[in-house]
Amino acid sequence: MDNVQELREKTNPVFNTAKATLLHLTQAGHADAAVMAERLGLDLAAVTGSDEGKTAMGQSNVAIVELRYRSMNAFIEATGAKTIVDLPCGYTPRALEDFIANKRYIACDLPAVAEEMGPLVAQMLAERGQKRDVAYHGVDGTNYASLRAALEGAQGPLCITTEGLLMYLTQPELAALKDNIRRILEEFGGVWITQDPEVGRVYIAMTVVSMSSDPAAAKAAMEALDGGADLGTVLKAMAGDKGRSTLGASMSTFGGEADVDFSKAMSYRPEQAEAAEKESLRAHGLKAELTPVAERMPKLGSLSPEKTELVRQAMERINLWTITPDRATLLHMTDGGSNGFGVSIRARDGVMDVALRGRVDSLTAPEFLAAYEKAAGAMDLADVHVDMSELAYISSAGLRVLLMMIKAVQPGHVSVSGANETVRDILTQTGYADMVTMA
Ligand SMILES: C[S@@+](CC[C@H](N)C(=O)[O-])C[C@H]1O[C@@H](n2cnc3c(N)ncnc32)[C@H](O)[C@@H]1O
Repeated sequence: MDNVQELREKTNPVFNTAKATLLHLTQAGHADAAVMAERLGLDLAAVTGSDEGKTAMGQSNVAIVELRYRSMNAFIEATGAKTIVDLPCGYTPRALEDFIANKRYIACDLPAVAEEMGPLVAQMLAERGQKRDVAYHGVDGTNYASLRAALEGAQGPLCITTEGLLMYLTQPELAALKDNIRRILEEFGGVWITQDPEVGRVYIAMTVVSMSSDPAAAKAAMEALDGGADLGTVLKAMAGDKGRSTLGASMSTFGGEADVDFSKAMSYRPEQAEAAEKESLRAHGLKAELTPVAERMPKLGSLSPEKTELVRQAMERINLWTITPDRATLLHMTDGGSNGFGVSIRARDGVMDVALRGRVDSLTAPEFLAAYEKAAGAMDLADVHVDMSELAYISSAGLRVLLMMIKAVQPGHVSVSGANETVRDILTQTGYADMVTMA
């Protein structure tokens, strides 16, 4: 392993989990996946650190990956978008799928993955004499500039597709990713589709179905879960202590070396999880429409028709999330003006969310003030959140606008987040840190 690769692996080992996907697809009988896995020299035991290929847990993991990959292909196609942004693309064979043929496929992942996949896919396409509009880009989904660079020259509307990423990110990383995707969709149009918010439920359904040799028992278990039964009790009733340990082992295969605690994803409480995720999306100016995965249920090579039917029934209650900017809340947005300054303002129910970018100084503060006054005039202002995570500098001209916000609402109702050290020092030295809630 060369030095760069070693440094990458040590700083973000999660990309190794994507290799398991390719091997699971291979096991599900996907021919291109098998060729790619062979050329990449991948071996299931080495990648998953277990002999899962031979176990019930292995079968369940293969079915989870196959279901997700094939159903996502169908959902991507159904959006009708001509430009697909696969974030993160991992090591999947999507670039070679028939439905990609007349589309632009922009594959985005960490550089370690993009640099391995780009040449491999180019070589496979050349061997087949196929010309495709396919490009692999090294990005970090939390880094807007890297994503925007990957989209240079792209035509919207986009279909941004995410499989197997959200559960690996911390809260601040998720916040950055959601903001980045919203900015991109605001610029290009289109949708962001993912099944990630309900991944825990998919694991549970698949474990229940694949562990049970009796379809009636599996069906009863899924119904009990839907009725609010405790997961541990249901699994124990089905398979004794093995039930829960199998589910845990399956999840830890996907966690791999990524240090991810999947215990939260073990919950089968759709309403609570759904409401929390919708609230988080709302806070980032996004909204979601939920479609049962069953609507695009693929044929699965890894399960018998009988078990596939059970999975289909479970997928009537497990959803694909189609996420778009909540345009109703967007009151103002400028970007890339003088000094890279930008401000976006969105609002709902008296809460104004302001995001600042670049430098707010005497040259740019008038634009900030104009945007704020226009937005404040259009609503009953109760709370203001100012996201400063992309703000490089704020001068006293910008602080005057902040003071107007502080005066416009009750004490303690302006909060500031993401300030860098420079901005934080400015707010502290000028006394503003005492007038706002700093997060
Ligand atoms: C479980 S894999 C999923 C990949 C692929 N969609 C699949 O189904 O196999 C997680 C992927 O996320 C990528 N990843 C992790 N953190 C990332 C980040 N901050 N930005 C972009 N990709 C990231 C990893 O490199 C890895 O390829």
